[in-house]
Amino acid sequence: MARKPLISGNWKMNLNHFEAIQLVQKLTYALTKDDIDAVDVSIHPPFTDLRSVQTVLEADKVPISLGAQNCHWEDKGAFTGEISASMLQKLNVSYVICGHSERRQMFGETNEQVNKKVKTIIKTEMTPIMACGETLEQREAGEMAAHIVAQITEGLAGVKAEHVAAMVIAYEPIWAIGTGVTATAGDAQEVCKLVRDTVADLYNQGTADAVRIQYGGSVKPSSAPELMSQPDIDGALIGGAALSAEDFAGCIQYRLGQ
Ligand code: PGA
Repeated sequence: MARKPLISGNWKMNLNHFEAIQLVQKLTYALTKDDIDAVDVSIHPPFTDLRSVQTVLEADKVPISLGAQNCHWEDKGAFTGEISASMLQKLNVSYVICGHSERRQMFGETNEQVNKKVKTIIKTEMTPIMACGETLEQREAGEMAAHIVAQITEGLAGVKAEHVAAMVIAYEPIWAIGTGVTATAGDAQEVCKLVRDTVADLYNQGTADAVRIQYGGSVKPSSAPELMSQPDIDGALIGGAALSAEDFAGCIQYRLGQ
């Protein structure tokens, strides 16, 4: 079944709001109508940039969706330093990444917390991009599949099939993030298929056929065409290359390299 690709730029902790506006403007010039017709695009700036980026996207009617990198599962209260899903929704944020490996590894995020975030993002009428991925040690110890299945199973616990069908799951092998090492297209396809099969086991084939699965980890304009030609890869979650308008547009224009 046809799934429209989603290419997302995860800016991580980079670019202040002035720099963010410049990057969005450059990106707007680099993308054509054909690109946007063929591919959904989201950008995920730091929280402090969201309002500025929203204003530029809306004023110039740029067909790029606004995304966030994280949120808390509570709506409000004494959670110093946290941002709620409803605050993001008020800024017209459409996609929220949750469970990125940097949050899991550096900030101790658990599958249970990721699950609460997924549910809150859905309840707030935004789309979660739930990330999963294994370390090199887990891969070498033959624990990759069990780890991915557990992250998906626990991350989706209690989420209805119709909501899973509309969400996004990003497979990002931790050893390929920011390292310049991209998983081979075959490796990436194998695990993205595992993710889809896991969704089929937990729900049904229709849900598995509908969910969009991104690959992430050192994606560049040169590697995007082959990755995007894999049957179970429906998009990319891009860090480093998303900080350059030229490189991010090059990834979005992967069709030209196929
Ligand atoms: P990278 O980051 O493209 O710089 O490897 C991807 C990510 O962590 O989302």
